[in-house]
Amino acid sequence: MIKLISLFLSSILLVSMNSFSQEQLPQLGKSPIKDVIKAMTLEEKASLVVGGSANRSAQVHKKVPGAAGVTYAIPRLGIPSIVLADGPAGLRIQPFRNADSSVSYFCTGFPIETMLASTWNQQVLKNVGAAMGNEVKEYGVDVLLAPALNNHRNLLGGRNFEYYSEDPLVTGKMAAAMVNGVQSQGVGTSIKHFAANNHEWNRTTLNVIAGVRPLREIYLRSFEIAVKESDPWTVMSSYNLLNGTYTSERADLLSTVLRGEWGFKGLVMTDWGGGKDPVAQMKAANDLLMPGTENQIKTIINAVNNKQLDEVVLDSNVERVLALVLKSPAFHDYKYSNKPDLKAHAKVARDAATEGMVLLKNQQLTLPFHKSVRRIALFGNCSYDLIAGGTGSGNVNRSYVVSLPSALTNAGYQYDQDLFSYYSNFLKQQKANKPAKSPYQSTNQFPDEDVSADKLEKAATENDIAILTIGRNSGEGSDRKLDNDYYLSAVESGLVKKVSDAFHAKGKKVVVLLNIGGVMEVSSWRDLPDAILLTWQPGIEGGNAIVDVISGKVNPSGKLATTFPVDYKDIPSARNFPGAAPAGSKSPQVRYEEGIYTGYRYYNSFHINPAYEFGYGLSYTTFNYSGLKLSSSTFNRNMQATITVSNNGKVAGKEVVQLYLGAPKGKLDKPISELKGFAKTKLLKPGESQELTFKLLPMDLASFDPPVSAWIADAGKYTVSIGTSSRAIKLTGTFNLPKSIVVEKDANVLQPQVTISEMKLPTE
Ligand code: BGC
Repeated sequence: MIKLISLFLSSILLVSMNSFSQEQLPQLGKSPIKDVIKAMTLEEKASLVVGGSANRSAQVHKKVPGAAGVTYAIPRLGIPSIVLADGPAGLRIQPFRNADSSVSYFCTGFPIETMLASTWNQQVLKNVGAAMGNEVKEYGVDVLLAPALNNHRNLLGGRNFEYYSEDPLVTGKMAAAMVNGVQSQGVGTSIKHFAANNHEWNRTTLNVIAGVRPLREIYLRSFEIAVKESDPWTVMSSYNLLNGTYTSERADLLSTVLRGEWGFKGLVMTDWGGGKDPVAQMKAANDLLMPGTENQIKTIINAVNNKQLDEVVLDSNVERVLALVLKSPAFHDYKYSNKPDLKAHAKVARDAATEGMVLLKNQQLTLPFHKSVRRIALFGNCSYDLIAGGTGSGNVNRSYVVSLPSALTNAGYQYDQDLFSYYSNFLKQQKANKPAKSPYQSTNQFPDEDVSADKLEKAATENDIAILTIGRNSGEGSDRKLDNDYYLSAVESGLVKKVSDAFHAKGKKVVVLLNIGGVMEVSSWRDLPDAILLTWQPGIEGGNAIVDVISGKVNPSGKLATTFPVDYKDIPSARNFPGAAPAGSKSPQVRYEEGIYTGYRYYNSFHINPAYEFGYGLSYTTFNYSGLKLSSSTFNRNMQATITVSNNGKVAGKEVVQLYLGAPKGKLDKPISELKGFAKTKLLKPGESQELTFKLLPMDLASFDPPVSAWIADAGKYTVSIGTSSRAIKLTGTFNLPKSIVVEKDANVLQPQVTISEMKLPTE
């Protein structure tokens, strides 16, 4: 009996102790973070810094199917799991769940990033970001794995469409605007892929060998601007190695530079499966390993037990994961609707697409369509099956893409019905023969077929104008090719010639639309058509946006944020792309021998004529630039440049104004000039003017000098050039810097372990 009573009493005690300890357990958000960490077991800590996919028992992707990953939940400490999903052109999640087609979860496919950059309008990116961010939040996602901001190093880069520009200033400013837009909705971003992720070839093993100066001035600079001008919740490290070490394992990159020098306060996560050594990653402050494996958890636990990893280091990683969770909608138990306003967002996508189109050629005012144009002959598969965006994690599962025929109909035009039936049948057949894999992989692109002489003759007789659309697609996992990709295929060149000949013979015009994600060769054929409009991959409202521009409803105001060279061999990295494994080794590597001479910095400094230069783009109106005023003839802390732009043409339009700065001859080799500011006017009516002001800071005058590990502005005369492109300079002025300045001293890190013979300007 006594035994029974004592058993009864002790069980009461145990129950009450248990509930007591539960109550006493620190809870995230209620207790100090340090206490929450203290209450975690080592296994919980290791699980938290490894993505939720490692925990097979967890229902990881149930909350938002199609999301790229989740973090680990620890309910006893009040730590929920958060959801991470791609990507740069809009949220990528599965459109249907559990084979139930009655409820859909479609997202808006916005224009690709390269197109957004071509707007040169940060407000547009903010608007797109806010719309994307709203979909992220309303679909129950916490962090958008975007924007992507690697520079366009080589035009064959398979993911260039996901990136903004060849120039770090444009890239950094656009990325900051996007981050600010997305995060205005109370969800996070992940700026990616940090850093030098400019190739898809062997992307998880490629060693990028680059000098410190090009890293600081070009490849890291865009991230630096983005971090300093927005506050991204997270950064995603890249797949590649940088000067011999995985970026996710480089403490100098992630701690010294990113956090120490730039003041980044958020979390760093790996790219999916990126890097090799979880312990090195923890030590480098790459806090979260995505999507996570059980092995990574075990390795971290063992490393702590074996004293290879100080638990204090792991605690800091854990702390940053918790700080991220604390900000997330999931933590605040946000009641997402699964019903974002897709209609409103479609309008944002259309406006961004119309503003990002670049008019490359417009002979005899072919565009906008003359009033007499009513009936249009559409050639090329993509005239009927527009490519809205790229593939891979940059793809968006959208419910529709507005095609050109429907957009023309919407705007009251007619199109040739025979061609429509011919192409529709052809595409139907192609799709049946080669059924689309998942949209993740499918390029949605079929090679064009020749069109018979009869069809051409008939079309040229019966229509007022021809549109020929040339399409290209690419995506994650492979780089582009030269043949049939950078260059036109034989059938395509044949089509450009035949369509042009047939229509010109009848005194009618031909417009080529470039529905592409990256740069193409144009020099060999651009003389044939009368107009060329670069429509990029314009998102779901593409057709409508194109018709807005060709009909004249909207005056094009996009400009190239990446150069179209005359030929591939002209590009500075042509000899070093994608790389190779050195003799006797299996490890792929690439050397950035072009150094700082990337894009227009190279073409302009080495006097290589491009086909269409950086910053180039035509308008239906003309602008006059006048009255360049510099705030002083001597630089002292800063300098302001003011100019007036007037619309002296016949229709309203917006102009992108660019400020390039040329430095005096000093110790360092420098490009002839570099972009240091840009601005877009409001919509100027004919006769209307606007004053624009640019501000130059000491950093804008400086270059990075590796031997002293500092940004130095050399004394001497600087030239300010205000241009409508990098080659069409309208106004210039000069100022003097009386004494050289050390603008910023940085840590001496990231050096290559081998000598790189970097390109230099020829000495005169
Ligand atoms: C890509 C990332 C993407 C991740 C998750 C990786 O393969 O490189 O950009 O965010 O997958 O889908």
